[in-house]
Amino acid sequence: MSAAADAYAAFYMPTRAWAWHPLAKRMPTHKVTFLPDNVVVEVDPECYPYGRTGEPGSVLDIALTHGVDILHACEGSGVCGTCHVIVTAGAENLSEADDDEMDAVEQVAGNELASRLACQAVVGGDVTVRVPC
Ligand code: FES
Repeated sequence: MSAAADAYAAFYMPTRAWAWHPLAKRMPTHKVTFLPDNVVVEVDPECYPYGRTGEPGSVLDIALTHGVDILHACEGSGVCGTCHVIVTAGAENLSEADDDEMDAVEQVAGNELASRLACQAVVGGDVTVRVPC
C-alpha cells in the first residue's frame, strides 16, 4: 500500500486511525461489576474523578456516574456508612481501608469481612461489589 493510501485509510477509517495513535496504547480499563443487578462498567483511571461524590475513582464515584444507585447520605465524606458495599471479587484491586473507614464499616448493620465504603474504596483493577438491598 502506498503512503498516500495509508494516509487516506488512517484519516477515513477511525479504527485504524486510533490504532497508530500513541494514546491508543495507554488506555487501561478496569471492569467494575455491581451486583445484584449485574451492571458491568469499564472505567479508565485516567478519567478519574468521574463526579464529585466520594474519593476520585471510588466505587461510589463510578457507580453514580454510570447510573448505579448507591445511598450516600454524607455525600461521600466517609462517615455515614450508607454507601456500604460487599466486595465479592477483586478486593486486592481496591485502595486499602484506613482506620476511619473500618470504624464506619463496623457501625453498619449487616457488615461482613468484605464490607467497604463505596465512597472510600478507589478502584485500581477489576472488581465486583454487591450493593445491599
Ligand atoms: S457516603 Fe457516607 S460513608 Fe460513604
